Amino acid sequence: MTEGPRPHGGISQIVSYVPGWSKLPGIDRTFKLASNESGIGASPKAMAAAIAAMSHCSLYADPPSKGLRDALARRFDVDPSQLFCGAGSEDIIRLLACAYATTGDDILYTEHGFLAYPISARVAGANTLVAPEKNLRVDVDAVLATLTPECKIVFIANPGNPTGTYVPHTDLERLRAELPEHVLLVIDSAYAEYVSEKDYEPGWKLVDTSDDNVVMLRTFSKAYGLAGLRVGWAYAASGIVKVLDTVRNQFNVTGPSQAAATAALEDRAHLEKTTAYNRANKQWLEERLEGLGMELSDSVANFVFARCPGGAGECEAINRYLRDNGVTVKPGDISGLPDGLRITVGPRDALERLASTLERYFADIAHPSPETHDAK
Ligand SMILES: Cc1ncc(COP(=O)(O)O)c(C=O)c1O
Repeated sequence: MTEGPRPHGGISQIVSYVPGWSKLPGIDRTFKLASNESGIGASPKAMAAAIAAMSHCSLYADPPSKGLRDALARRFDVDPSQLFCGAGSEDIIRLLACAYATTGDDILYTEHGFLAYPISARVAGANTLVAPEKNLRVDVDAVLATLTPECKIVFIANPGNPTGTYVPHTDLERLRAELPEHVLLVIDSAYAEYVSEKDYEPGWKLVDTSDDNVVMLRTFSKAYGLAGLRVGWAYAASGIVKVLDTVRNQFNVTGPSQAAATAALEDRAHLEKTTAYNRANKQWLEERLEGLGMELSDSVANFVFARCPGGAGECEAINRYLRDNGVTVKPGDISGLPDGLRITVGPRDALERLASTLERYFADIAHPSPETHDAK
């Protein structure tokens, strides 16, 4: 018997991504706060555009996403030759890793960085370098100290996932200035629409002022509410866009997805409604979690990262209790933070269900009153 085909060595080193549960087995209704999806869903105009585009579904869609690239160029007043569209920004992360790194190269990300980075690095056959974070924040000095001569790409999620913390523009400028020119700096700004901090900049300026070695990644999955349609985009020097166009799948973004994203981009009122919803409900959620003794990171995105007062053991118990009661959140252990839970500022009924379930947990299970004990 032969051994049969084997994938290359990098594949066996992949720690698979664990997606948030949408439907808990054996539970009538699942309240999902596990995947940082929009709290109010997509623009009705975007949904209508996707449905209308279905009438052309027997045809291959506009292959280079020209219409969507032009719409992005108009919306942000940039050159369409500097825009690229992919099947979600995760698709673009994979393309960048495979195009700019290979066996023997290193790809760097930070300690609690988004898990797509190491997966894509391994698919490319590259090694991973992990720079420590400081207080759940990217530490530019640590990134520079972790760098090796073999490093080809640095991925920075800004804001980070699962921490939600952000890197000020001046720190990113310093990072770019101190990185060797041949290292590609990828600023993954998946949650940019939610951030209102004055010293935050999603990456436009760094792309414009750099030497063709910065990529800004964005997505329609979060604030635009189109996660299921898979549309992400990149802004970069036209030379980098050309490379991405060379390596992408020919028909990487479906017709209905392109149509929905274009309509979503034009519905500025819906985006405003989404960010206003997030501001109000994030504050509501934070107050409740802090009231229960949970410690929060300084998230500026559409989720919070809450550390459990009793540490990793309690965190696991809380996660189990939430699931038993129909609520899914994302445990931090897969990101090296076993004492915390990432909770999306999702639909209001799910947030209320989460808060009341946690209140019950802390009252009845973590700190039961003597009467409750006796009754048992
Ligand atoms: C930091 C970050 N980047 C990229 C993505 C991927 O988004 P997309 O749905 O566009 O692939 C996510 C999704 O969770 C994310 O958190």
